[in-house]
Amino acid sequence: MNENSTQFDVLVIGSGAAGLTAALTLATQRKVLVLAKGKLTSGSTAWAQGGIAAVLDAGDTFEDHIRDTMVAGAGLNDREAVEFVIERAPAAIDRLCELGVPFNRESGDLHLTREGGHSHRRIVHVDDATGWAVQAALLKAAEENPNITLLPDRSCIDLITGRHEAKYSGSGRVWGAYALDTATGKVEAYTARATIMAAGGAGRVYQFSTAPRGATGDGIAMAWRAGARVSNMEMMQFHPTCLYNLEVKNFLITEAVRGEGGRLFHPETGHRFMEDYDAERMELAPRDVVARAIDDQIKRFGLDYVHLDISHEPPEFVKEHFPTIHEKLLGLGIDMTTGPIPVVPAQHYTCGGVMIDLHGRTDLPGLYAAGECTESGLHGANRLASNSLLECFVFGEAAARDILAHWDGFEAPPAIREWDESRVTDSDEEVVIKQNWTEIRRMMWNYVGIVRTTKRLERAKNRIDLLASEIEDYYGNFRVTTDLIELRNLHQCADLIVQSGLRRHESRGLHYTLDYPQTDDEVKDTVLVP
Ligand code: FAD
Ligand code: SIN
Repeated sequence: MNENSTQFDVLVIGSGAAGLTAALTLATQRKVLVLAKGKLTSGSTAWAQGGIAAVLDAGDTFEDHIRDTMVAGAGLNDREAVEFVIERAPAAIDRLCELGVPFNRESGDLHLTREGGHSHRRIVHVDDATGWAVQAALLKAAEENPNITLLPDRSCIDLITGRHEAKYSGSGRVWGAYALDTATGKVEAYTARATIMAAGGAGRVYQFSTAPRGATGDGIAMAWRAGARVSNMEMMQFHPTCLYNLEVKNFLITEAVRGEGGRLFHPETGHRFMEDYDAERMELAPRDVVARAIDDQIKRFGLDYVHLDISHEPPEFVKEHFPTIHEKLLGLGIDMTTGPIPVVPAQHYTCGGVMIDLHGRTDLPGLYAAGECTESGLHGANRLASNSLLECFVFGEAAARDILAHWDGFEAPPAIREWDESRVTDSDEEVVIKQNWTEIRRMMWNYVGIVRTTKRLERAKNRIDLLASEIEDYYGNFRVTTDLIELRNLHQCADLIVQSGLRRHESRGLHYTLDYPQTDDEVKDTVLVP
């Protein structure tokens, strides 16, 4: 047995918006351990730009926000989940204000910006760097809370389940996770009565993504391997406007630029091409529509990028609304107050994930999940802009409340086996990890991107199957490193995405295939069962 095994009441995997919201709620009554891969600010939360959607304006209604969410989600959303989240949004914003998030205000009221797919101004924001302010406020509150222990540089490898119990109990419960301490190189068992998975999305499965380096789908892959169902993994969101730059590959240009008047143009003819795709909503059509339009222009005219231009607005207005982006672009020789920004679509958000109910419960007793690693029913076939942070706050809290409400039913974990390192040696070929990683990401970009075909998905599946034994062999024989953990999870998620894509015989939202271009009302969620 592992003498180093460390036990808390609840283990939270992930220190982003979902994980820290859960931890802060739990810490009113329980001792919580939060683990993060790398720094505590390494998730997507700190990178969020546009803001958080909530009905706060007198002219706006829950029903309108619900309708916009379901229109963007192309009818695949679960209406109960949509209502659940949207009705809790104003209270979530109030709590963030109490934590000190300095949202922009105008004459004392919260300033609301606009993004694609929203019929009203309803996005609260902190300039164009909302995520950083939210992450900082949550982290400060967690650091000050004596019931919360934060451990960065712990790469979770797998959930602890029945097969890791010293004496198998048959309970089927999740008892925590094994994690690599990257400073010592040791793997420790972190056990708890309940575990909340909040490990973020799988964006880095694609060659071009706005997501941070660690978005490798670890949480989805760990839950899947432990026996939880995942759904709608084919619904990968591509953001229409990522900066095109040969040096800086993943800098997002927030949708709020279009919300505040930015227009898209063919870079050579100057044609405002959204007229040809969605003349009514133009640049403010939902993301899947705008991303597909840009992809079509790029492919049809052999372009490297299209232009996003807000230079018709007064320079002071542009600088005031987008100070971070303006400064970043100036450093790259682009002045957005006087000229256009070259942009391309890039992977941005994982709509599918671990299936949860309204209490954040997964299929596995003792395992909850919240945030981007989940499929809660909110986003359907395409996430509405700025609904994601909101989902983290609502489900992070819901999961924590459910654990607190049923605490007496959570047993203490049994004795757990130590991580077995007797068979492994140090890797002699680190380069293989890098090569496999690059191969998966390039293949996913080329074969499983914005426009798909059955043939391309099958090609991707063949490559994934070929890589499977190589990666498992590597994992079975060599000491784990964060790179290896991530490669195994990237591969797992790529497989789930392609399997799901092959099962969906229709086009809907983010899944567009030339072989089934129509939407089929009979087709619902793509649920994969381990
Ligand atoms: P994350 O914030 O990604 O946190 C994941 C956590 O899990 C991290 O702490 C990470 O270290 C940890 N972790 C991962 N793997 C492991 C492991 N193996 N072991 C231990 N820990 C692990 N959404 C909006 O609503 N509004 C926006 O304006 C917005 N802008 C965005 C801009 C960008 C550039 C990006 C990339 C996303 C944006 N999104 C936005 C989406 C939103 O930021 C994310 O969906 C959300 O922050 C996810 O939060 P999370 O808590 O689920 O995960
Ligand atoms: C953006 O600022 O464009 C991102 C908003 C989001 O992903 O919800």
